[in-house]
Amino acid sequence: MKKLVFLTGAGISAESGISTFRDSDGLWERHRIEDVASIEGWHRNPELVNDFYNKRRTQLSECEPNAAHQIIAELENLFDVTVITQNVDNLHEKAGSSRVIHLHGELTKACSENQKGYVTDIGFREIVFGEKAPDGHLLRPFIVWFGEEVPLMEFAMTEVESADYLVIIGTSLNVYPAAGLYHYAKPGIPIWLIDPNETQPVNKHVKIIREKATKGMDILKKELIND
Ligand code: APR
Repeated sequence: MKKLVFLTGAGISAESGISTFRDSDGLWERHRIEDVASIEGWHRNPELVNDFYNKRRTQLSECEPNAAHQIIAELENLFDVTVITQNVDNLHEKAGSSRVIHLHGELTKACSENQKGYVTDIGFREIVFGEKAPDGHLLRPFIVWFGEEVPLMEFAMTEVESADYLVIIGTSLNVYPAAGLYHYAKPGIPIWLIDPNETQPVNKHVKIIREKATKGMDILKKELIND
C-alpha cells in the first residue's frame, strides 16, 4: 500500500463548528492567544487557562466530524494513512482514523504540570482546578503551548519522510515547527494543499485546491483514486 500522509490544522474542523485561530484577529474565543495558549499564560493565571480548556472540551463534546475527516478515514481502505494534526480536537479519531499524531496535544487528556510523561484520558469531563496528578503536582490540560517543546515532532518528520503522497489541509502554516514539516517530504512526491484562503507561500510543486476542506477532500479523493 502507498503511504498517504495528511498534515491538518484548524481549518479542517471549521465546518464542524470549531473556530480557527487566525481568522479571529488574534483572539481565541475572546481571549488573547498568549493568555490561554502559552506556558507564560499558564504560569500567570492557571485557573483561567484551566477554565478556558474546560470550556473548549465541553464545546468539543457537541461537535461531529465532517465529510473531510470522514473521507480521510475511509482512505485507509486504499492507502496506509497517517494523520499529523495540529488540532487538539478528537474529530479525526471520531471519524475512524486509526493513526493520528497530535503535535499540539489533546483536549480529552490531562497531564501532570511537573511531568508531561504522566498522561491520563479524561474524556469530556472538566479538570477541577487544584486537582492533583499521582505525583502530587497540579493536573493540567495536555496541550502543547507556545514556549513548550513539541515532543512528537521527530516522529512526525519520519512519517513525512516516508510519505508517497502528502496533503496539507486547513493550516495557515504560521506556527513552527509544524509549518515546516512538509519540507521533509521526498523530492518529487505529489503534495496538495487544501485551503479556501491564501496561506503562507509554499513551493511551486504544491498543487493548491482553493476550497473548503469538505469540497477539497472530495476533489482530492477522485484525483488520488485516478492516480
Ligand atoms: N476548510 C479548510 N481550511 C479552512 C477552512 C475550511 N472550511 N476555514 C478556514 N480555513 C483555513 C484558513 O484559511 C487558514 O489558512 O484554515 C487555516 C487556519 O489557520 P490557523 O487558524 O492559523 O490554524 P492552524 O494553522 O491550525 O494554527 C496552528 O496555532 O494557535 C496555534 O496551537 C495552535 O495548532 C494551532 C496552531
